[in-house]
Formats: sequence, C-alpha cells, structure tokens
Amino acid sequence: MSTVLSPPWQFNNPVQIYCANGAIDQLSSLIDGRPYILVTYAEPVFKQWAERIAQQAKPLMVIDSIRANPDLDDIKIQCQMLANLPQAPKLIVALGGGSVLDTAKALAASRGDFDCFHQNLLAAKDVSGPTWPIIALPTTAGTGSEVTCWGTIWHRSGGKKYSVKGPSLYPEWAVIDPELSINLPFELTRQTGLDALSHALESIWNINRNPVSKSFAIDASKAILNVLPKLLNDLGNHDLRRQMAEAALLAGLAFSNTQTAIAHALSYPLTLKYDVPHGIACSFTLPQILTASCGMHADIDQALRAIFGHLDIAEATLTAWLKTLGVSTQPESYGIEPVRWPGLVNEACYNARGQNWSGNANALEQLLIHHAQQESQSQGVA
Ligand SMILES: NC(=O)c1ccc[n+]([C@@H]2O[C@H](COP(=O)([O-])OP(=O)(O)OC[C@H]3O[C@@H](n4cnc5c(N)ncnc54)[C@H](O)[C@@H]3O)[C@@H](O)[C@H]2O)c1
Ligand SMILES: [Fe+2]
Repeated sequence: MSTVLSPPWQFNNPVQIYCANGAIDQLSSLIDGRPYILVTYAEPVFKQWAERIAQQAKPLMVIDSIRANPDLDDIKIQCQMLANLPQAPKLIVALGGGSVLDTAKALAASRGDFDCFHQNLLAAKDVSGPTWPIIALPTTAGTGSEVTCWGTIWHRSGGKKYSVKGPSLYPEWAVIDPELSINLPFELTRQTGLDALSHALESIWNINRNPVSKSFAIDASKAILNVLPKLLNDLGNHDLRRQMAEAALLAGLAFSNTQTAIAHALSYPLTLKYDVPHGIACSFTLPQILTASCGMHADIDQALRAIFGHLDIAEATLTAWLKTLGVSTQPESYGIEPVRWPGLVNEACYNARGQNWSGNANALEQLLIHHAQQESQSQGVA
C-alpha cells in the first residue's frame, strides 16, 4: 500500500447548473437575446421540445441531423450549414443525450470552419481559439457531458475516435430538467445509467482524483446502485428520474476533473468494432477492474468501501447487481471473440485513458481473461 503523501490538488468546474422540473420552459433569460442555433435529434418528441424553446426565443437554425455517436462526416455537413447562415450565431442550445451535447461542442469549436476544426482534432490539440458558448439540456442521465469540457467524435469509415477538448468547451449552463427523461425507454435508461456509474467509479480509481471529485463520485455511485434498478422497474416515476438525473450530474462533475480511465479505454474498440453501446461497453468489466484497483492506495480503498462495504465481496456484489439489470459480464455475449479479448485488454491498459488508471494492470489482465474463460465454460460456450 503506497504512503499517503497529501499532494496539492485543485478542483475546477465553471459550469452554472440549474435543475428544475419544467426548466425547458425557462430558457429565455439564459438565452438573453443572443442569436442561437438549436442542436437536437429529429424524433417527434424532440421536435415538440424544440418548438417549446422556439416559443421563448426563435433560433437562427435547427440542426437535427444528429445520429447516436456523432460522426466526423456529419460534423462536416453541419459546419457547412453553419457557414451558410446569413448571421453568425452567438450561442448553441443543445437538447439531447451525449451525442447532441458532444456535437454541440464540436460545432462550438468549429464556429462553422470545418477544415480548421479537423486539423486541430487530428493534432489532438486543445481548442485554443474562441468558441461559441453552449446551454446544455441533457435528455439522458447520462453522460455528464453537460459539465465536461470534452466531447467524443467518432469516425466510422476511418475506424477512429477523436476527442474535441479544451476549457472553453465547458457549457455556460447545464440545465437539468428531469422531466425530459421521463419517456426514455428501458434500454436507453439502463445504458445511460451504467455510463454514469462508470464515470463515477472511473474518477475514483484515477490518478487525477482529488477529495472533491471522490466525494461527488461516492455519492453518485451509491445513488445509482440504489436508484437504477428501481427506476428500471418503474420508468415513469418522476422522483426516481430526478434522483437519477442528479446522480449522473454528480458523476459528471467528478470525472470532469479526472477524465475517465481503464473501463472507458477498453470500451472504445468495443463500440467501434463490435457496436456495443457505450454504456454497456464501459460498464460490463467494472467488477474485475474494481478488484484490480484495490489494495494499492488507501484513499481509493476507503472510497470503494464507502460504496460497496467489504472489498473482498465487492466484485461479486457488483457482478450480481449487473446481472439483476440483465447485463452480462461475459465479453463473448457481445460478439467479442475469445482469441481477441486478451489483446484488447492489454491495449487498453497502455493507451492514454488506460494510463489514468491507478490499478494493477497485470492483475486486471489475468482477472478479465480468467473471468471470460470461466463464464464461457460455465455457459457451455466453446
Ligand atoms: N462528453 C462526455 O463527457 C461524454 C461522456 C460519456 C459519453 N459521451 C458520448 O455520448 C454519446 C452517448 O450519449 P447518450 O448515451 O446520452 O445517448 P445518445 O445521445 O447517443 O442518444 C441515444 C438515443 O437516445 C434517444 N434519446 C435521447 N434522449 C431521449 C429521451 N429523453 N427520450 C427518448 N429518446 C431519447 C436519442 O434519440 C438517440 O437515438 C456517445 O457518443 C459517447 O461517446 C460523452
Ligand atoms: Fe462514458
């Protein structure tokens, strides 16, 4: 166990947060007369919400061509739409899940200039020039993107994933209206709730953790472990929706200062190559990661104990919890060939997000590979 050195730390998050049922109808003072574009999805419920926002202040344009996991090729077309506007916007209002919020960040960074944005993205540099401010209204609970300064941009045809990032991309406002998620279907509620749990835990076993991020993460994890199973049995429960929205927000605040770690590192190829939804891809390995994160840093053990109680049964507790939610911890159930699994785990341990992890990589590789083999044998999978 390493010595506690009490290194200096800081916590910083400039996003102003407003949370209320019906907050979607209270945007005019936040928009404050600025010409803006609205970024959202094309589905009917989003059209209705877009109209409610337009009644308060008419947007210059609505961009609703957002697909789940925003793609670089789409961002190019959306930039062209922005470049053709007769008047430049001074604000983006983003209404949707992580895909909409991350698209808004890409568009805010580009300000309609795709080539410049693209060069910066390829160079993996922080966005340095001016950006348009964002008012973020998350409709899932969730990615936490409403309080982070980065977004994930996928490029399916190139088989790659990029990060658009920089302090100027923190939204100006995160407007949390739990009513917006009341009709989120079972599967999306489950996936997005698991993503939030992964953010909270990943910020605990993270080299960038600090006392504030840990405190947010502990509260978020406890709330999600308690609320998500109840919510999945009672999707229309307003109080549970509010609790879940607040827990996802806390998880977002926690990892806004630490970034994610190994579970997310491992998830990206699973989403890109095997189409595993983000929330599942970054959560089904959490039980083994939990074990491999224990016993090295007293403060991490203490935080995990605050969530799971005894650490020697924490892996089993989390595995059982995932099973009650119908989430398999077996990579083969997601189409990942056993022969490829060890390589994917090894790559994740040594990539940039994996390097944020404060755990034992050798132990994790063994645990994940052993667990996959065991499950495979017990289910009679060849
Ligand atoms: N920037 C960050 O900090 C961060 C963190 C985690 C994940 N992400 C990214 O976020 C994306 C995933 O976002 P997501 O999980 O929120 O889902 P999403 O935005 O991809 O949306 C998935 C689907 O949910 C539907 N949907 C969303 N809200 C709904 C509602 N209230 N009612 C009915 N349907 C609704 C949408 O129409 C869409 O088809 C991924 O691309 C991931 O990489 C970003
Ligand atoms: Fe995530």
